[in-house]
Amino acid sequence: MHSVAYRSARLCYRAGRTVAKHTGFAGWFSDWTSPLHITRTLLRDALRQRTHYARGWLLDVGCGEKPYRELFPQVERHIGVDSLGSTPDVYGDGMYLPFRDCSFETVLCNQVLEHVPEPWKLMDEAARVLKPEGCLILTAPQTWDLHHVPFDYYRYTCFGLKFLAERSGLEVVEVVPTCGIWATVAQRVTDTITNTYLNGGQSFLVRKLIPAALAPVQIVGYRLDKWCGKRGDTLDYVLIARKRPTTADSAPVLTGHSA
Ligand SMILES: C[S@@+](CC[C@H](N)C(=O)[O-])C[C@H]1O[C@@H](n2cnc3c(N)ncnc32)[C@H](O)[C@@H]1O
Repeated sequence: MHSVAYRSARLCYRAGRTVAKHTGFAGWFSDWTSPLHITRTLLRDALRQRTHYARGWLLDVGCGEKPYRELFPQVERHIGVDSLGSTPDVYGDGMYLPFRDCSFETVLCNQVLEHVPEPWKLMDEAARVLKPEGCLILTAPQTWDLHHVPFDYYRYTCFGLKFLAERSGLEVVEVVPTCGIWATVAQRVTDTITNTYLNGGQSFLVRKLIPAALAPVQIVGYRLDKWCGKRGDTLDYVLIARKRPTTADSAPVLTGHSA
């Protein structure tokens, strides 16, 4: 038997949901009840602002479900390679890519570098399969919890990403954080509480109330971050790096004395 308080709360929840549905507030708010809304929105926005770097044949390394595929409609082919899962076009290891040198105009690699034990090898491989002047579009976390354990090896700073790209001979175009400390804190609080307290066994009310209570945390953190201009630690970085033109294509380099 449910208590009167429980039934009243449930009734209020249903009444609120009906009102919200009819005012359009429901769709907007329900997006924010997703515990990963900040990080997903920020990553998608950061990639959307950089889609012009993608062209030709695109290789998606560690593609997962290819969640960003629709952001790149201009590419001729979007080929996914992954070591696991049911959706890659090709099964393979990012550290030993099964493609010839200079095969792709674009390499996309989202949230994979932290799972690779020798990330410099993945970076070398991305550089190898890129055509001259092709672009690498890569995202990697600076702040996140342990995930896909035990295959979770690293977190990155902008300097670490720049170092790895340059070490592989790539020219770094930009390395930008997706957010600052406010969005980072709001996201981490939200996903930590969700992971700790919502593990499937809770009552209907708790399953609905916790995400609803955390939505304002995400909204406030996200808005504060926009106002403060990405100060402090970030959740993720986006790196854009370009493969240099081949010597034959590049401007002649003077090696001796001119007449
Ligand atoms: C966090 S998921 C990201 C998936 C997708 N890129 C995205 O943005 O949603 C990490 C992916 O990297 C893949 N992965 C991990 N290590 C890999 C490796 N050595 N070579 C290729 N893929 C790898 C995993 O199988 C998984 O699909």
